[in-house]
Formats: sequence, structure tokens, C-alpha cells
Amino acid sequence: MKKVGVLISGRGSNLGALIEAQSSSYKIVQVISNAADAGGLERATQAGIATCVIPHKGKTREEFDAELDADLRQAGVEIVVLAGFMRILSDGFARAWQGKLINIHPSLLPAYKGIKVHERVIAAGERQSGASVHFVVPELDAGPVIAQASVPVHPSDTPELLAARVLEVEHKLYPEALRLLAEDKVKLEKGFAVFS
Ligand code: GRF
Repeated sequence: MKKVGVLISGRGSNLGALIEAQSSSYKIVQVISNAADAGGLERATQAGIATCVIPHKGKTREEFDAELDADLRQAGVEIVVLAGFMRILSDGFARAWQGKLINIHPSLLPAYKGIKVHERVIAAGERQSGASVHFVVPELDAGPVIAQASVPVHPSDTPELLAARVLEVEHKLYPEALRLLAEDKVKLEKGFAVFS
């Protein structure tokens, strides 16, 4: 059973899905938000999970990340899961947690890294989009992919409609990918996701 820490900044619907899917392979022991008003904090508290707010304002990226790191280690966290965490982590943090740090991104990576994904997908006339769970490496949204799920893009889609369709598959995909990592069925080796 791996101890998991989840970093959030907002509503925490993926956190909710990860909480519901907890099993013998992982247990969420700590939820950290950089925003005091993140809805996900309430979800965690309701589930009896310890929470902590670490504001980022007025701190360098390194100072903020050092606080995150200290809190996670104190809680005995073995795997760090980013779930709507809207801060870019320092290279040092990404390296320290390499292979133990994952993120979910609402596109079929390596396509559409960064923000405003759904707007760009629709503007480009794509017929398909989706979600990707990937290992976090220092370069943004560039780490090896662990799992992906696709959804259709309809001609009548708005960014909001597409986001909701993608979010639905995220909620299944993220717990599955976390289970793979927690059960050591996927590892980051020499920059690749290696499955066993
Ligand atoms: C999701 O769309 C995720 O892909 C992106 O941020 C959003 C978080 O949503 N990284 P929630 O806070 O989990 O509801």
C-alpha cells in the first residue's frame, strides 16, 4: 500500500475520483493546496484526509517547493499526484520526486501541451481529443505517458462541453494510472515509461 500525496489548486474533481477509487494499492494521506479556497480541500476533509494550505505568494519557486517537499516527506508520502495543481514545479522538485510524481493533462499528449487546450483543439478542427497521465519531468507536460483515453470532438463543441467530456474520462483514467504506479507495474526508466 503506497502512501499518496495529492497537490491541488481548485475544485478537485480528480481528487474526488482518486479518493473513491482508493484500494489496497494506494492510500491518500495528505492533500496540499496552494489556494486556501480550493474546493478539493473540503472533499479531502470529508473523506478524513489530512489537508494543508501552502500559499505560494511572496515566495520564490524554490522556497515554495521546499515547503511542499518538507510537508510531503513529513506525511510519509511515497507518490505525489498533481490534480489540477496550477503551479509549475521547480526542476529540483521534479528531479527529487522523479518516477514518483505524476500529472493529468486534458489532451492527447504530446499534442496540446500547456493551457487553453480545449479552445486550441476546437480551433484546429480536431476530431479527437482526450486525457493523458504522465510522469512529471522538468520540462512542462513533456514527461513519458503512462495512460491515455480519447473522446470525440463534435463540430458543435464549445470548450466547456469538450472539457466536461474529457473530465469524465479523466476520472476513470487517473485512478487506473495511479494504481499501475502504486503496484510497481510502471516505472520511469531512462526517460521512458516501462511497463511490467
Ligand atoms: C483537469 O482538467 C486536469 O486535466 C487539469 O486540471 C483539471 C483539474 O480539474 N490538469 P479538477 O480540479 O480535478 O476538477
